[in-house]
Amino acid sequence: MQVYFDADADPDLVRSKRIAVLGYGNQGRPQALNLRDSGVSQMRIALRDGSPSAGRAGADGFDVMTPAEAARWADILVMLFPDEEQARVYRDELAPHMKPGAALVFAHGLAIHFGLVEPRADLDVVLAAPKGPGTALRDEYLQGGGLLSLFAVHQDATGSARALAFSYTAALGSGRVGMLETSFAEECEADLFNEQAVLWGAIPELIHAGFETLVEAGFSPEVAYLECLTELKLIADLIYQRGIAGMRWTISNTAEFGALKGGDRIITADTRTEMRRILREVKNGSFVKDLIADAESGYPLLKTSRAKAAAHPIEAVGARLRALKS
Ligand SMILES: NC(=O)c1ccc[n+]([C@@H]2O[C@H](COP(=O)([O-])OP(=O)(O)OC[C@H]3O[C@@H](n4cnc5c(N)ncnc54)[C@H](OP(=O)(O)O)[C@@H]3O)[C@@H](O)[C@H]2O)c1
Repeated sequence: MQVYFDADADPDLVRSKRIAVLGYGNQGRPQALNLRDSGVSQMRIALRDGSPSAGRAGADGFDVMTPAEAARWADILVMLFPDEEQARVYRDELAPHMKPGAALVFAHGLAIHFGLVEPRADLDVVLAAPKGPGTALRDEYLQGGGLLSLFAVHQDATGSARALAFSYTAALGSGRVGMLETSFAEECEADLFNEQAVLWGAIPELIHAGFETLVEAGFSPEVAYLECLTELKLIADLIYQRGIAGMRWTISNTAEFGALKGGDRIITADTRTEMRRILREVKNGSFVKDLIADAESGYPLLKTSRAKAAAHPIEAVGARLRALKS
């Protein structure tokens, strides 16, 4: 896969445009701040009336407008609010007002890939997806680095959509470290799979299961927490820096022998079968259907799952141990 850098991007392309960032949350704030620090001077933040985020955007020195006002004003609209809201906001507040030949930038392919947003034919539609949370996007940028980003073009109405994708992604800081081309479909499906099968679904469940097994067997919750959760950061940093094989050189022979004895008893053939099932549910749209249904009913499943996670005994132990550290 070819990797692109700042030298492949025209920084003046985004600097010459009016950019409205919709949403000022996990991605919205860091992306807006990075764009401004990269020389984009004509920027606004778009939020719904009465939005709790407006105060923060104002405090950071941005003017705030509604999505409809932003659609009339901007050359580029950046969709940095929840995926499941994007269809309605695009249909009711953006599409009727956007300038001919304007651009939509997404940070995730879901709304386009699953047809929730059907963009007007005259618009450029691109993806700029930093691979990591917004906090990391901002921190890396401030330290002179960046996050690797994926970019893609869904619709090139003006002939300059790809150049825009380069210019925008580079302005986030990703041109310093690498920009990789993908499609909306690939980015979206791999991301939805990973969220369930590896990162946000499987790893916390693994930590809970390990913690519960030790506590149930009479170990102190503090020891169980340190073993099953605190050391996760250590291994994540090592894997990030050195890869999985490289990480093994930094751990003891005992830990390495433990890895060879335990790993494939936990991630079994059944686990891999379930992973393939999760991927099928992503690809056939049933995951997205469930997501939208939960959103439309006021998020009952999401709220129950948040409450369950907050009530788990591991949280009280974590709060005590983090307080010791601070
Ligand atoms: N989170 C990540 O690390 C990450 C990484 C890569 C890509 N992405 C993608 O980035 C996009 C944004 O995700 P996120 O996690 O940054 O979202 P988020 O933090 O949950 O978005 C919240 C922000 O969106 C605003 N908002 C909510 N509904 C809105 C509406 N109807 N109109 C305008 N603004 C609205 C909220 O304002 P209020 O104050 O009014 O609620 C708040 O400012 C998604 O496509 C996501 O898949 C996220």
